[in-house]
Amino acid sequence: MNQDELKRLVGEAAADYVLKHVPDGAVIGVGTGSTANCFIDALASHKDRYLGAVSSSVATTARLQQHGIRVLDLNEIDSLPIYVDGADEIDASGAMIKGGGGALTREKIVASVSEVFVCIADASKQVDVLGQFPLPIEVVPMARTAIGRRITDLGAVPVLRVRQDGTPYITDNGNEIIDVKGLQIRDPRTLEATINGWPGVVTVGLFALRGANVCLLGTASGVETIRYLPPQ
Ligand code: A5P
Repeated sequence: MNQDELKRLVGEAAADYVLKHVPDGAVIGVGTGSTANCFIDALASHKDRYLGAVSSSVATTARLQQHGIRVLDLNEIDSLPIYVDGADEIDASGAMIKGGGGALTREKIVASVSEVFVCIADASKQVDVLGQFPLPIEVVPMARTAIGRRITDLGAVPVLRVRQDGTPYITDNGNEIIDVKGLQIRDPRTLEATINGWPGVVTVGLFALRGANVCLLGTASGVETIRYLPPQ
């Protein structure tokens, strides 16, 4: 199976997981990206069982609405039993790098409210040490250079994300993204807390302090379910 077929497979597996584990009438948290899109497409067949979805980006909102799935504002709901999203990398503890699609801030907000985070990924996303994929950081534009200096002090390389026309990529929240190259993240929880503390950082795309509880991993032999222990 190629990567697209694996994404479709885990998207369908996630819709089945939701059917089994989430009561009818619940609201589902929905991530962003090509794997999350496969989940949305699979979820659409069961949409009448759920009250609706909380979306993590403008793009996901559009796709949910195309399928006739009601999109609720996070402020309207009291609880979110599940959040389903992809990842750029995931390690053996369930810590992830996310934000390759630029939606890291809303993804982290929705994930933080959810009881269970289900990561859906093809096997290429599973790594021993996070950092081969550049770590995205959403920043307030005026802090771009100051944050870049801090990244250089860590021994890594800050790269401002740009659009095809060379202008800065702008997130759904009106901010910029710095992609950090050259990290080997052996202690993701500490690095997440450190970067979160830098003035001007909106969100770092490390999801370790609140990582995945479950991963549905698409492999050549089918979908593997990995459950992670809560951090001590
Ligand atoms: C979006 O901002 C990201 O966090 C995605 O979840 C991540 O980049 C995975 O995307 P794909 O499923 O497209 O690989």
